[in-house]
Amino acid sequence: MRADDLSLFQSPLLPGEELRFEGKLDGEHLAEGLLCAGWHVVGYVEEGVASLCAPNLNWRDDDLAKLKEGNWIQRNRDWWRSTQPGPVGSRFVREFVKTQGRMVEVGCGPGGGITPRVLLDNRDCRIIMNDISNRILQLQRDQMKKEGVGSNVIFMAYDMMKKVLRPETVDAVSSFGGFGETGGKADMAISVAYDALVPGGLLYVSELDHDSDEYRALPDDIKTRFGLTEGWRARLERAGFEITQYAATQGELMDDPEDGGLAKAVMERGITLHKNHAQIIARKPGRGSLSRAP
Ligand SMILES: C[S@@+](CC[C@H](N)C(=O)[O-])C[C@H]1O[C@@H](n2cnc3c(N)ncnc32)[C@H](O)[C@@H]1O
Repeated sequence: MRADDLSLFQSPLLPGEELRFEGKLDGEHLAEGLLCAGWHVVGYVEEGVASLCAPNLNWRDDDLAKLKEGNWIQRNRDWWRSTQPGPVGSRFVREFVKTQGRMVEVGCGPGGGITPRVLLDNRDCRIIMNDISNRILQLQRDQMKKEGVGSNVIFMAYDMMKKVLRPETVDAVSSFGGFGETGGKADMAISVAYDALVPGGLLYVSELDHDSDEYRALPDDIKTRFGLTEGWRARLERAGFEITQYAATQGELMDDPEDGGLAKAVMERGITLHKNHAQIIARKPGRGSLSRAP
C-alpha cells in the first residue's frame, strides 16, 4: 500500500481526520509504522500490511499454523484455476473487470474470495483485500507475490461492519462468505458496503443461504455459534440494492470436516445439512461515475 492510498480510508474512531503514516517505507510502499489521525494513533503497519483494528483481532496462532501446514492458500488458488465460478460469478467477474474500477473483497480469508478468479482475468486489477486479521492478509500478499499478480492490490485489515472505506470510494464489493461471518450482523456489513459503493456500483454475494427447513431445525447453540444468516436477497433489497441476477443452488451434503467449523459441528451430532448457496449480483441505484484506472 502506498501513502496516497490512505485517502480511501478513515478511522472509525476519528472519521473526520485524514489518515497519516509515520514509519518506514519500502520504496513507495508502507513497511512498518503507525497510522495516525489527528493527535491519535489509530492503527499500524506490520510487515507491509496496514491495520485499522486491534492487533488481538487475529486468527489464533494454531489455526494459522494449520492453514500453512495444509498449504490451504495454494490449494484454494489451484481450485480457482480448475473451476469456473458459475453463471452469476462469471458474469460479475466479466462486468467488474470491464469497469476498470476498484473492488473491495470483504473478509477475504484464506480463499481470497472471488479475487483470485478476477486476477486470472486481469492480474493488475485494482482491489482492496480486507480481513479482520492482518496475518491472513500477509499470507494473501505473499501468495500474490509468488504468482506475480496483484500489483494494484491494497491490503487493509479492518472490521467490515465499520465505515472504514470513505463513502463512494469503490466500484464493486465482493462478499464470498464474508458477510456470513459477521455473527448475525450481516445487515450492518451490507449497509456499510452500500455506503462505500459509487452509485451504479456492483455488489457480488456468494454466501451459504440458511433459508431451509434443515437450517431452521438446527440446535440454537449451533445457530448462535456460527451466526447463521438467511434471506440474502431480501436483505440486499431492504438495504436499497437492485437485484440484477440471483441464483439459489441446492448444494451437497455437509459431510467433509475440511468444509469448516459448521460442517464439523453437524457431523459430530449426526445432523443432516446441505450446503445451499445464494449467488447474487446487485447494483446500488444511480448512475455514478465509475472510477477509471489512470
Ligand atoms: C472463513 S473466511 C470466509 C471465506 C473467505 N472469503 C474465503 O474465500 O476464504 C472468513 C474470514 O472473515 C474474516 N472476518 C470475520 N469477521 C470479520 C469482520 N468483521 N471484518 C472483516 N473480516 C472478518 C475472518 O478473519 C476470516 O478470515
